[in-house]
Amino acid sequence: MNSSYETLQRCYESFRQKIDFCPEVALVLGSGLGDYADGIQVEAVLDYHEIEGFPVSTVAGHKGRFIFGYVKDVPVVIMQGRVHYYEGYSMEQVVLPIRLMKLMGAKVLFLTNASGGIHFDYHAGDFMLITGQIASFVPSPLIGPNMDELGVRFPDMSQVYQKDLQDIIRGAAKDLNIPLKEGTYIQFTGPAYESPEEIKMARALGADAVGMSTACEAVAANHMGMRVCGISCVTNLACGITDQPLTHEEVKETADRVAPLFKQLVTETIVRIYEGMKS
Ligand code: HPA
Repeated sequence: MNSSYETLQRCYESFRQKIDFCPEVALVLGSGLGDYADGIQVEAVLDYHEIEGFPVSTVAGHKGRFIFGYVKDVPVVIMQGRVHYYEGYSMEQVVLPIRLMKLMGAKVLFLTNASGGIHFDYHAGDFMLITGQIASFVPSPLIGPNMDELGVRFPDMSQVYQKDLQDIIRGAAKDLNIPLKEGTYIQFTGPAYESPEEIKMARALGADAVGMSTACEAVAANHMGMRVCGISCVTNLACGITDQPLTHEEVKETADRVAPLFKQLVTETIVRIYEGMKS
């Protein structure tokens, strides 16, 4: 057993000593969705710093916790406060919470995030179903000795975002009358926003939206055999599409503005995913 797996095990044992809950779906909250858990039936809360061995941000005011509860009748674990590579964590630390949620029992990982729209047809406030991703510009979270307990050394990535889950999201959006774009997400490390030239490059490579999270999490989840789906909230047009400089304020403002719709879409998707799991 390698030491990284031992750390994960230690986190799991520390979690299990405190929490007796088995989630089916794991949800990672992106910008704007931070208060999503206020609208669900909460059963338990676990701050990251209460978990032995867990990577906790040293950034003042950074809050992070797992929330356990029910979205309608679906047992979920919600990650409120993600760990980002640009904060200085290793990629292995960044994906530790994802791995932990799998050990907790979650079979499906639902990723949400904020992104910059690269595709010329995108507008601030659009939602994009993530149909694929480019993770090549960040280190792989699988580098290092393979955790054989979790998955194989050379995992297949031909369907990172599962087609049947994509269909569920399309159906939920259609029935809720929420317009949904579709596209490829590219992850850069950040924390600086991209230059216009980097955005041109990303577009040439086939990317439709850009962000600083998610793709590495999806790789780790696929490695473990979790089923993954994701929706991105396009909070701004990517650098160089307009003359306006990018600010974090703009990102937060758009994310907050469309959050009510985003929450509806997330809830409806989770309910339908669980229906599919039961049948
Ligand atoms: N670039 C990278 N990450 C982002 C952006 C962006 O334009 N918007 C929101 N997250």
